Amino acid sequence: MPIDRNGKDKEKFQQLQAVIDDKKGMPGALMPIMQNAQEIFGYLPIEVQQFIADELNITLSEVYGVATFYAQFVLEPQGEHVIGVCLGTACYVKGSQAVLDKLSEILHCPVGKTTEDGKFTLNATRCLGACGLAPVMMIGDEVYGRLKPDEVEGILAKY
Ligand code: FES
Repeated sequence: MPIDRNGKDKEKFQQLQAVIDDKKGMPGALMPIMQNAQEIFGYLPIEVQQFIADELNITLSEVYGVATFYAQFVLEPQGEHVIGVCLGTACYVKGSQAVLDKLSEILHCPVGKTTEDGKFTLNATRCLGACGLAPVMMIGDEVYGRLKPDEVEGILAKY
């Protein structure tokens, strides 16, 4: 659903305005404002990036540059459950690519995208810090380790 600044998303823009009013003029205000914006909207649509740029008197490309540089920012709406399959070295060596491929096949969803029903977003991630459990994936805050590709279907069924 598109962003509607004067309709359904009006309140969110008001919240963001309050954040910006509070932080404007502080050195390094852009990052925390963008983090707050992502908490409010769930992601950083281009309309929100434009709003931040206008309010801070900077260009949209400056905001966009930050949004695309840092992995913590997402530019598309996320699914209800966000899956992250670790492609860090330890997990990769233990076959995490096959786990990721299997998920992509089952969900009919390319890596980095969200399923059509909005239920899952499928991401590849860097090391999740649980290398002892390689290969590892996370669904939301839940960690699944020592995974085999044929186990993922059963795990997904829980969601
Ligand atoms: S490499 Fe996957 S958790 Fe560290």
